[in-house]
Amino acid sequence: MALSDRQLWDARYRQGAYSERLWPGAYLQQCMPQILAQQTPERALDVACGRGRNSIYAAQQGFNVDAVDVSAAALAQGARQAFHAGVMVNWRCQNLLGANVGGGWQRDNKYGLIIMFRFVAPSLLPTLVSNLALGGHLLIEEHLQWSGPEAVNGPNNPDFRVAPQALKEALLSSPQGLDIVDEFEGLVEEPDRSQAALSRIWVRRQR
Ligand SMILES: C[S@@+](CC[C@H](N)C(=O)[O-])C[C@H]1O[C@@H](n2cnc3c(N)ncnc32)[C@H](O)[C@@H]1O
Repeated sequence: MALSDRQLWDARYRQGAYSERLWPGAYLQQCMPQILAQQTPERALDVACGRGRNSIYAAQQGFNVDAVDVSAAALAQGARQAFHAGVMVNWRCQNLLGANVGGGWQRDNKYGLIIMFRFVAPSLLPTLVSNLALGGHLLIEEHLQWSGPEAVNGPNNPDFRVAPQALKEALLSSPQGLDIVDEFEGLVEEPDRSQAALSRIWVRRQR
C-alpha cells in the first residue's frame, strides 16, 4: 500500500528534514514592514507551515497565527520552537488536499495575512483568496520551473514547481479582485548560499 502524504512527511521530518532551515522566509521578512504599516496585525494563516519558521516569525510580529500542515511531526517540532521563542501559534494538523479543506482553520474569520511558502497547491488558491479579509495580504513563494544552466536547490520533480507566470494568472482570475503589490521570478541566493529559482507574488484583496 502506498504511503499517505502524512506518513511520508512525518518520516521526512523525523529524519531531520529542514531542521537546519530555522530562518523565516526572506520574502516574508522583506514584505512585513509594509504589511504592518497598512494594518494592525490580527489573524494570519500559514498554509503547509512545516516546522513553522514563518508562523513563528508572524507571531513575533503580533499576528494570531493558524499554522496548518499535514505532518504532526513537523507541527510538534514547530511547537517546541515556538515555546523556546516564547510565542503562541495555533497548530492545526490537516491534509490540505483532502476533503473539507478549510476545516483546520477558522473559516468565519477573515485573515489579514495568508502565507503559502514552498507548497504547490493550485487547487487551493480560490479557497485562500476567499478567506482573505478586505485589504488582506496573500504572499506566495514557490520553486519555479527552471531550464537555465544554473544548479538550483529544491524538488527535482517539475510537478512540485510552478510554471512561469502561473501564480499570477491563477490569482488574477479571482472574482474578489486582487491588486498585485509585488512579484518576482528568478534566482535567489539562500542563507545557506545555495541558489533557488523562485516565483514570488504578493497580492492584496480589494473587495
Ligand atoms: C517544502 S515544505 C515547506 C514548509 C514551510 N511552508 C516552509 O516554507 O518552511 C512543504 C510542506 O507541505 C506539507 N504538506 C505536504 N502535503 C500536504 C498536504 N496535503 N496538506 C498539508 N500540508 C502538506 C509538508 O508536510 C511540508 O511541511
